[in-house]
Amino acid sequence: MNLILFGPPGAGKGTQGEIICEALHIPTISTGAMIRAAIHDGTELGKQVESLTKAGLLVPDDVVVGIVQERLKQEDCRNGFILDGFPRTIPQAEALDALGVRIDCVLDIEVPDEVIVERMSGRRSCPSCGATYHVKFNPSKDGIHCDLCNSELTQRADDQPETVMARLNVYHEQTEPLRNYYLRKGLLTVVDGQKGVDETAELVKKALGI
Ligand code: AP5
Repeated sequence: MNLILFGPPGAGKGTQGEIICEALHIPTISTGAMIRAAIHDGTELGKQVESLTKAGLLVPDDVVVGIVQERLKQEDCRNGFILDGFPRTIPQAEALDALGVRIDCVLDIEVPDEVIVERMSGRRSCPSCGATYHVKFNPSKDGIHCDLCNSELTQRADDQPETVMARLNVYHEQTEPLRNYYLRKGLLTVVDGQKGVDETAELVKKALGI
């Protein structure tokens, strides 16, 4: 299955992506995670995009399209993939189409803005393996370390309340128009993301028929 996870920042794309990845044994490709890794490693790309990401703004289309194009060529994508956080603009979606990439489903996880702000303030992430937790809704076993690799959990630089508001604005202006783009193609499936992680996962699995 070639799947796009769609929805506002903090909707639970990464969280559900991990669950689908385990169920279907296909990789999750998170452009946000790849960008954070480049910033962490101090690569040329990381230096180029760090200030944009910290301000909650989008990285230029050609940069992310290039990253995704390279990643999709890898062997582990042969039997399917989950795109998390890409495409995020109409030109990115058009570029994906132009590459000839077939998409089976665009799963839109819907969560209202007021719920998002609470989720982001409690999010904790693993800097080593990228796993995502929440201090209240989805804590790690000891609340400090990652359950998967035992690294100490950290808070993302772009999860400060004012940056979250900027990211939501960017989402409504630049990303939300993609809903209609995929609706017109008959690919959009909407899931209510306001319930807990497990209940949402059930809705997601039902929507995907897995
Ligand atoms: P990116 O990393 O993609 O961030 P995002 O889309 O803003 O999404 P998030 O990762 O913040 O949220 P999520 O939906 O994955 O939610 P999560 O599962 O973590 O992008 C970051 C930046 O990179 C962008 O701002 C931009 O600068 C750049 N970038 C990336 N892609 C780009 C592109 N294509 N073009 C241009 N620039 C790009 O959940 C959030 C929290 O809620 C967690 O704590 C989680 O535990 C909790 N939670 C999840 N589900 C539930 C639930 N059902 N109930 C209660 N809590 C829940």
